[in-house]
Amino acid sequence: MKIFLDTANIEDIKKWNKTGIIDGVTTNPTLLNKEAGDTKKLLADICKVMKHGDVSIEVTETAPAKVYKQAKEIAAIAKNVVVKIPCHLDYYEIIKKLVEEEVKLNITLVFTLIQSVCMCKLGVKYISPFVGRLDDIDSNGIELLEEIRIMLDEYAFLNTEIIAASIRHVKHFHDAIVSVADVVTVPVAVLEKAATHPLTDQGMKKFIDDWKKLGIKQFP
Ligand code: E4P
Repeated sequence: MKIFLDTANIEDIKKWNKTGIIDGVTTNPTLLNKEAGDTKKLLADICKVMKHGDVSIEVTETAPAKVYKQAKEIAAIAKNVVVKIPCHLDYYEIIKKLVEEEVKLNITLVFTLIQSVCMCKLGVKYISPFVGRLDDIDSNGIELLEEIRIMLDEYAFLNTEIIAASIRHVKHFHDAIVSVADVVTVPVAVLEKAATHPLTDQGMKKFIDDWKKLGIKQFP
């Protein structure tokens, strides 16, 4: 099970990379928009920091021929780049071509089981169902993850992994793990909250307080 950081903030990426629990990064134009400075340099730096993991970078062109060309250029930024392409019918043909040319793809903005089947048939590396955005429209993002997991396993689509995306809170993170998503891409705020627990903090305090009562000056 892999955890990706859903951010383009280089300081957060460096910090969380040091903990050893991060296996990759997902960016998108909205996340890049939050960061100051040279975006191209930032993306190259993220790829360097995250050299052991996949870094998703999204296409920004819209016409299929231009998306294809841009996808190839994005893939050339670094070996660990995964090109993010929206799950739109207009792009099926170029997605097929890019997969044949061994470009690693993360198909983004996936909202249905059938969209997922289509992308698995094309052999993409990742599909990203957007859990939070489905919940926003009173649908059920976690249920979709569960259905995709069953579909992938039952039909033995062995080339494609599920990235649980649009994770908005700790319960989404938890439920995405229970639904056996291959990857959960988590915003920093959610990861920070998920990695802490008040009972851990209280327990640590009590152990230290009780230790001090023993009055031992040097240990061991
Ligand atoms: C990650 O790949 C997605 O771009 C991201 O999780 C979207 O999250 P949002 O729906 O909170 O914008």
